Amino acid sequence: MEKKFQDILKSEQKKINPITDVPEDLNLDIIRNDYTKIRLITSKNKQLGLKEWIQTNIDFVNMLFERDRILLFKGFSCLIPKIDFSEIVTITSNGKPLNYKEPSTPRTEVTDEIYTSTEYPKEQKIAQHNEHSYSDFWSKKVFFYCEKPSVSGGHTPITDSRSVCKLIPKEITEKFESKGGVMYVRNFSDEMDINWEVFFDTSVNSEVEEYCKKKNIKLQWREDNKLKIFQISQAILNDKNDNDKNWFNQTHLFHYSNLNEEISQYLIENYGLESLPRNTYYADGSEIEVKDLNEIREAYEKAMFRFDWEEGNFIMIDNVHFTHGRDSYEGDRSLLVSMSEEDSIDNYL
Ligand SMILES: [Fe+2]
Repeated sequence: MEKKFQDILKSEQKKINPITDVPEDLNLDIIRNDYTKIRLITSKNKQLGLKEWIQTNIDFVNMLFERDRILLFKGFSCLIPKIDFSEIVTITSNGKPLNYKEPSTPRTEVTDEIYTSTEYPKEQKIAQHNEHSYSDFWSKKVFFYCEKPSVSGGHTPITDSRSVCKLIPKEITEKFESKGGVMYVRNFSDEMDINWEVFFDTSVNSEVEEYCKKKNIKLQWREDNKLKIFQISQAILNDKNDNDKNWFNQTHLFHYSNLNEEISQYLIENYGLESLPRNTYYADGSEIEVKDLNEIREAYEKAMFRFDWEEGNFIMIDNVHFTHGRDSYEGDRSLLVSMSEEDSIDNYL
């Protein structure tokens, strides 16, 4: 398997032309493991402003992004996040930063369409995911800016979705495809996780019903104005340009086995499997075996690449080709996030 991977990587490298016309004020590198590689752009001058540099070199940045799909900027002077971040997103995107619709996790909007990264307790790790891949629409680009790195831990591991798809045993990926993808089941309440008012950004039941109808989400109102939804989405996205398959879903993250065993057992005993805040099934409603989900987790673990955050670092990620996650950490940590370019399943069929 290792040998086969090296061959694939080598043949991919051969197809790519060398980079020419590199601006003099920076160093270009690749940081990588066998499965995931990141383009690193380091400024030679710590006074250089990232926004101004990108503005001047936008064609070069677009060319690099088209080629590598993930760019990490280091060594530039710090941004004024509330102003510069949003402008960089706009300069490097087709359109302005997007609103965080159908949120999965709690975030705070710092300024227009710039958010804090997921506000989960620092002891918790967040499993790898492509943003919004539980849905039929998502943002094509995800950006993170490091305002303050943690004292220890707190990495944002990255994995290449194509490598993950290849690393998962074929019989598992084929099962997902033959069963039509993934069904995400959510029980919204005020007691756990986010409530439906936050998820749908309204407190009017009929508006939720209308939205769900439009999006093909099945819903059930339950006692005390609680809501259960069933959303079917893709497991894999086929990239039309390079014919590669991207593992693109959050099955392992929404499944109860993502929780620590004590918590999942407590929830199952007290609420029942059908009433868990989140769970996943195959699209035909059949159960996914935990051993298969653990194989998927192992594939992510194997492909995972970590880099150290430093104050002022900025990363631009193709959300289809790469996943991100979060390690647990100590000390304060502030990462800001923004998303751009709405993409949907219609572009991949
Ligand atoms: Fe995320």
